[in-house]
Amino acid sequence: MPLQIPPDFLWGAATSAFQIEGSLDVDGRGESVWDAFARRPGAIEGGADGSRACDSYRRWREDLALLTELGLGAYRFSVAWSRIMPEGTGRVEQRGLDHYERFVDGLLERGIVPVLTLNHWDMPQALMASGGWAGRESVAAFGEYTQEVAERLADRVEWWITQNEPWIIALLGYRLGLHAPGVTDLRASAAAGHHVLLGHGAGADVLRSFPGTRVGAALNLLPCVPATDSAADAEAAVGSDGYCNRWYLDPLLREGYPEDMHRHWERAIGGPLDFIHDGDEAAISGRSDFLGVNYYTRRVMVAAKPGPGRPFPWQVVSPGGDVARTDDGSEIAPQAFEDLLLRIHHEYPGTPVIVTENGGAFGETPTHDGRVHDTRRIAQLRDHVSAMSRAIEAGADVRGYTYWSLMDNLEWAMGYRPRYGLTYIDYPTGCRTIKDSGHYYAELVRTGQLPP
Ligand code: NOJ
Repeated sequence: MPLQIPPDFLWGAATSAFQIEGSLDVDGRGESVWDAFARRPGAIEGGADGSRACDSYRRWREDLALLTELGLGAYRFSVAWSRIMPEGTGRVEQRGLDHYERFVDGLLERGIVPVLTLNHWDMPQALMASGGWAGRESVAAFGEYTQEVAERLADRVEWWITQNEPWIIALLGYRLGLHAPGVTDLRASAAAGHHVLLGHGAGADVLRSFPGTRVGAALNLLPCVPATDSAADAEAAVGSDGYCNRWYLDPLLREGYPEDMHRHWERAIGGPLDFIHDGDEAAISGRSDFLGVNYYTRRVMVAAKPGPGRPFPWQVVSPGGDVARTDDGSEIAPQAFEDLLLRIHHEYPGTPVIVTENGGAFGETPTHDGRVHDTRRIAQLRDHVSAMSRAIEAGADVRGYTYWSLMDNLEWAMGYRPRYGLTYIDYPTGCRTIKDSGHYYAELVRTGQLPP
């Protein structure tokens, strides 16, 4: 079936600053929470850090050339917060702003629409003095940072993403300690999630005073399905959906937190969520011009008794049967992507969506012909673009799709092992090679149809 893609659709690719830039001590950049976390022994696989990554802070012209070669119309990238506010608040580093201004101008000269993320997890380490996102001071600091970036770039950047994956920040950063800042405290995790959302509100309020900007947050949404047809598993799926999805969707796109999940949270932390102040929910809602959707996989759920390490009455299980998986074991589930886009259309009507991430870890490397024959990524891309097209045909208001990722990069705590790119990075040399999937995507974007 031919693809049903609306006119002016943004076809693009995505990256984030810490994952690609390197040059951590250049142009007055301050330390970020990931710099500090990477120094903890064992925190990042292989002892990797972001000191070089794809070397994009220096090789940004090559990245622009890649985007042009792929014929992409949009690029989602992030500004490194600690390059702009090295001490977290107060002093502004103009050299950081100069860099992103040059980069944005380079995109615009090539007719590529910038989609700018403000917080892709690399908060200035200085803000940890007040608890990072677990502390309420983070909200004003984020507003201040947004103001500085907007003053420089809002005259030429239309699409702004305040926060990337609030649930992952709360879960991996503050509950499980697997991501920076490495905190393991359930209450801090709940507070962090709330302050990240409040930060969205504060950032959006700043951006709204700059005409022509559109603001959204990017959520990693995980369709939750029951493992069996038992009532208990159905309830577990609803609970898990509350935890990962509705806890963020509802305050952003409706008017406050969902009550069922509010009760789960209170039970889990054994007290009231007193970090949610009067007026906070009103300061989060009604401030999204669009929703960014990061989609990778779904979750299969069973009911389970809370206990050590399990604060809520549910548990994720591996999907049964012979399902297709990426290198990191995630199920490849394109049908759930179509269902998710339609769910947003029905349950949060009037919300335009940009698919801000979709992709998978597939580790193919160059063969003797110098090319990367990553047929699994091609299949993943094809199946998800088809799913998105079906959702659009059924009414979903999807305005863009930025594939994760333009290139292989630092996959956080997993280091450089997982490869998500349309472009292969040879880390020792920094050399970039477009993979077969990149060529496939370029053809798709050029013709508006799936290549044979
Ligand atoms: C989510 C994150 O936004 C991104 O930074 C990460 O690399 C990808 N998904 C893949 O895990």
